[in-house]
Amino acid sequence: MERVLSRGWYVLGPELQAFEEEFAAYCGTGYAVGVANGTDALELALQAVGVERGAEVVTVANAGMYGTTAILRAGAVPVFADVDAASLMMGPAALESALSPRTAAVIVTHLYGGMAAIRELSAIAARRSVPLIEDCAHSPGAARDGRKVGSWGALGCFSFYPTKNLGAAGDAGAVVTSDPSLAAKVRALRQYGWTAKYHSTVRGGQNSRLDEMQAAILRAKLPCLDGWNARRREIAQTYCRALAASGAGLPSDTSGSDYVAHLFVIRSARRERIRRALSDAGIATDVHYPVPDHLQESLGGAFRGAALPVTERSATEVLTLPCFPEMTAGEIDEVAGAVRESLS
Ligand SMILES: Cc1ncc(COP(=O)(O)O)c(C=O)c1O
Repeated sequence: MERVLSRGWYVLGPELQAFEEEFAAYCGTGYAVGVANGTDALELALQAVGVERGAEVVTVANAGMYGTTAILRAGAVPVFADVDAASLMMGPAALESALSPRTAAVIVTHLYGGMAAIRELSAIAARRSVPLIEDCAHSPGAARDGRKVGSWGALGCFSFYPTKNLGAAGDAGAVVTSDPSLAAKVRALRQYGWTAKYHSTVRGGQNSRLDEMQAAILRAKLPCLDGWNARRREIAQTYCRALAASGAGLPSDTSGSDYVAHLFVIRSARRERIRRALSDAGIATDVHYPVPDHLQESLGGAFRGAALPVTERSATEVLTLPCFPEMTAGEIDEVAGAVRESLS
């Protein structure tokens, strides 16, 4: 931060350039483009693959309205696929049935620190020549078959909101890709459509830049990400052992490199009772997310008819327990004990 202040270069300077190179190398992609936040990352990614007004974009309705917001901002129409009952992420069969001749893109959200069935999903999208965009906000650093999230789709989108596994000290985001022309498009779109200063050649540009201070902070934190992810995974495993006989639904596999435990989410029909008991014990919980996108008031009922039974049911059952690298063994025990007690 001192380096940035003494240099006096605050926007699109050497810190961002270095962070983009370091983050692209970390993700195993050719390019990373820093943007203002994760929602912009999704919107610019949709624009970069050519999503236009009225086109359909397939997504899920249980991921906090971020992808849906980006789709609507791009002028497109969200088509909601129901989620898999075990992973709560988009499954291959649901994607197949949501695709239509009007589908211009798919957004796959890697939820809670896990990874969706990305090999199968990207094969389906490729077969239908539909670009697949990964929403990696919950899962930076997760990898399957040696490939990191964000490197499977045409583009991967990240949020560095402060509470994320890799968090800035404010809003920040990035788009990664190995396609140089998509990287160039996102680069232009984040700054008025400029391909050269004051020359706007790409339609639909906006101002969505990642500033130097945030880039410097992210550069300092990136080397810690794998260690923090490993500690988060340990915490999740400890929870799973401690809650195995509690009756709560638990994440199915917390041991692999494709899980980085962004949010430790349990499921129970008695969620409110657990929540109240934890609150009484001074333990904060949250629900990610309480209202499925298709039922959000801002959509005015336009998607109310979507048949999304797993999405709707899970919204009434999911509960997020505290999970962050600094948690102590005693704190994990205390939370798990309070959950067990509330269900006994
Ligand atoms: C899954 C997911 N996608 C996208 C976003 C959007 O990121 P931002 O808040 O940086 O716009 C978030 C943010 O919380 C998120 O959790």
